[in-house]
Amino acid sequence: MDKIQIFGGNPLIGEIKISGSKNSALPIMAASLLTDEKLSISNVPKLSDIDSMIKLLESLNVKVNKKNTTIDFQSFVPESLSASYELVRKMRASFLILGPLLARYGNASVSLPGGCAIGTRPVNLHLDGLERMGVKFKINSGYVTGNCEKGMKGSTINLKKISVGATENLMMAATLAEGETILKNAAREPEIIDLAKLLIKMGANIHGHGSKTIKIIGKKKLKGCEYKIMPDRIEAGTFALCVFGCSGKIKLLNVNKSISEHLQKIFKPLKSLNMIILDNGKSLLVKKIKETQVTIKIKTKEYPGFPTDLQAQLTSSLLKTKGKSEIVENIFENRFMHISELIRMGANLKQKGSKVIVSETKNLKGAEVMATDLRASSSLIIAGLIANGKTIINRVYHLDRGYEEIEKKLKKCGANIERIKK
Ligand code: EPZ
Repeated sequence: MDKIQIFGGNPLIGEIKISGSKNSALPIMAASLLTDEKLSISNVPKLSDIDSMIKLLESLNVKVNKKNTTIDFQSFVPESLSASYELVRKMRASFLILGPLLARYGNASVSLPGGCAIGTRPVNLHLDGLERMGVKFKINSGYVTGNCEKGMKGSTINLKKISVGATENLMMAATLAEGETILKNAAREPEIIDLAKLLIKMGANIHGHGSKTIKIIGKKKLKGCEYKIMPDRIEAGTFALCVFGCSGKIKLLNVNKSISEHLQKIFKPLKSLNMIILDNGKSLLVKKIKETQVTIKIKTKEYPGFPTDLQAQLTSSLLKTKGKSEIVENIFENRFMHISELIRMGANLKQKGSKVIVSETKNLKGAEVMATDLRASSSLIIAGLIANGKTIINRVYHLDRGYEEIEKKLKKCGANIERIKK
């Protein structure tokens, strides 16, 4: 397994090209199952999660042709409508094939994704919503098998909890269901809007995406199209927090206006982080103006609140800042796996339930640490960049799931960071 070695203390100066969004690409790739025509998706990030989704789709007789960051998909009738535990356990987003398979073929059997490092990650909202659209489910030996031989029927679905994945699964299924589907209490993340735009380009009839209520009127068939994935707002936010932690000045390229405005809003409490939107939102200049006392209280929330996917990185970026801050994780029940690793570097952190109190750490020292999940691993990178001495991060396969060549991007901006290939 590869490791990452960092010698901390360098400011970050330069430019970073933001890759396409992992959390937009994954549902959009699943949408290839909704049509037998060719889908050509560009600006796809080079990540192991994308490779896992390709393997899963190929097992369902989708022909996949990868040309750098453009991938063509064409879905043919599969011999088996079953997605194995082996493939699904690697990545929860695999569960997003359930809605499309049921809508296209009327039945499907998908392994339950199981939990992961950050929580139990149930799928009840996906199944309840699909049941309201006429699907009958049976669960045995870890697989959920759905049937709706008479076809799916549009329905009004009140999501008991805001869920990105459930909103995506149900929206995709509804595009081929008979009649109208209304999703209430839908997730509003930009990745939902990106998926809806792709589906509309395929001929779907969708309104209200990005708001709490999404209305979909089903069609008989969807067609192929070309589509470019939006930039990755979590990658952009991670690099902005690197600058906050290390100081310096970075120009983030290939972002868009809504991402730049969203990041400016959520990072406003970090007064010394100066963010200027340039060339009509295509790039964002991020600069740390001075060392200031920071005492903030941040609670993670569904979009447009502070994203849970930036919570761990915010904690690390605050470690050498004067002041005392509180960060509360409201979305997942166990998204603090990075804390014990940061404490091994001398971090002054106290966890109380879903809250972590971050106080200034005068002497944050490099150490050998272990990545546990995707965003925790990027928080260890930030800690390594600001600590004194050498940090070695193990199990960087977690990092490679969601960050494209992060060490190369940081090295180009002056960080002393190397990947040690095992
Ligand atoms: C998506 O996961 C993202 N993944 C996650 O990013 C992100 O953290 C999460 O949304 C929240 O923004 C992808 O888009 C591939 P949820 P998802 O359903 O859809 C509970 C990353 O780091 N819930 O919005 O799985 C759930 O347990 C990843 O890139 C149910 O109770 O998240 C959680 O507490 C990590 N029942 C909350 O809802 C359900 O049926 C939000 O989960 C579904 C979810």
